[in-house]
Amino acid sequence: MVNFEKLFGGIYKDKVVLVTGHNGFKGSWLSYWLKQMGAKVYGYALKPEIAPNHFSLLNPGIEYIEADLRDVKTLEDYFEKIQPEIVFHLAAQALVRPSYTDPVGTISTNVMGTLNVFEAVRKTKSVKAIVNVTSDKCYENKEWIWGYRENDPMGGYDPYSVSKGMVELMTSSYRNSFFNLKDYKQKHDVLLASVRAGNVIGGGDWATDRLIPDIVKAAAKQEAVLIRNPKATRPWQHVLEPLSGYLTIGWRLLEEKTEYADGWNFGPDLDSNLSVGEIAELAKKVWAEVQIKIGSNKDEHHEANLLMLDCSKANKLLKWHPVWGIDDTIDTTISWYKDFYEKDVLNTQKDIENFVRKAVEKEIIWTK
Ligand SMILES: NC(=O)c1ccc[n+]([C@@H]2O[C@H](COP(=O)([O-])OP(=O)(O)OC[C@H]3O[C@@H](n4cnc5c(N)ncnc54)[C@H](O)[C@@H]3O)[C@@H](O)[C@H]2O)c1
Repeated sequence: MVNFEKLFGGIYKDKVVLVTGHNGFKGSWLSYWLKQMGAKVYGYALKPEIAPNHFSLLNPGIEYIEADLRDVKTLEDYFEKIQPEIVFHLAAQALVRPSYTDPVGTISTNVMGTLNVFEAVRKTKSVKAIVNVTSDKCYENKEWIWGYRENDPMGGYDPYSVSKGMVELMTSSYRNSFFNLKDYKQKHDVLLASVRAGNVIGGGDWATDRLIPDIVKAAAKQEAVLIRNPKATRPWQHVLEPLSGYLTIGWRLLEEKTEYADGWNFGPDLDSNLSVGEIAELAKKVWAEVQIKIGSNKDEHHEANLLMLDCSKANKLLKWHPVWGIDDTIDTTISWYKDFYEKDVLNTQKDIENFVRKAVEKEIIWTK
């Protein structure tokens, strides 16, 4: 039996936690996990547009509001009402391809939306920590074979990537200007960290233009999925991996450990960097209905081909490590959808329990 309340030093029990983007892919898993650890979880996000929606299926029993991050008054009133102690900021326009059709919406949501969250934090004295979720795409991508480190330059080719680079620069500016460590506990009480993860997979993601959702939606209809860019390499990881990293950072910030108020990469070990084509082949081994056809890449927008994260900093200073290898990651993810479509069963609880059990076995820091 997993004792959820003891994880992360038991810090989340009874904590008032705001998760922006609670009904998104990552937010739904995070809200559910936090709730199990005894946190008082609140959510802030737009009404979900795509059905099915993992958060609605899970129905974790948290209080939330459906509103826009750019609606400053509603956002600030919500902070004032719930008085959060920690904010996990995940809400964003989170996809590259839609950022080409709506660059203004993407940049305003991601940059101005984050600015509004930071300002709401400044006005709400209860907040002690912010974990600001950006992306591996915040780095200036040089298409090289080495992993990016936290102190590499920010950049971004497409509007989504640049929005995340901009948010990182803004995070750094707020950490200097308003949440400076030298003024901590004198002029302010806030520790601000930003977290960068790569391609995340797992059950309950139905976004368009993401590989696994595209594969499983086609498999459910017994159709073949068109794979563009089969050689593009990504650092694949199960959604619970970066979430364990975000929760570890949140834990350290809530313990008032100032050295963790910084940027952090959370990615898989290097053997989990596989090409899109290799991932599709592995998925087929778990669910025979998966069928792939390789399509032409003509007229496609630019997409990064090679993008890896160097996670030595999180490994060494935070003692954070991934729990599952690539086989468990793919197996768990594809089985989640297979069971959902074929048996109408949600494996979310089971997946979290298996993940925590494996983490305990591996003596991962947040289980001790
Ligand atoms: N999924 C990945 O592979 C991945 C990789 C790197 C970084 N990220 C980042 O992680 C975070 C979560 O990603 P996800 O995969 O869960 O995305 P998602 O698209 O599933 O969810 C996005 C969430 O943001 C909310 N949102 C969007 N625009 C909003 C607005 N204007 N006002 C209020 N809420 C708004 C949505 O309602 C939803 O809850 C994002 O910041 C994303 O950029 C995701």
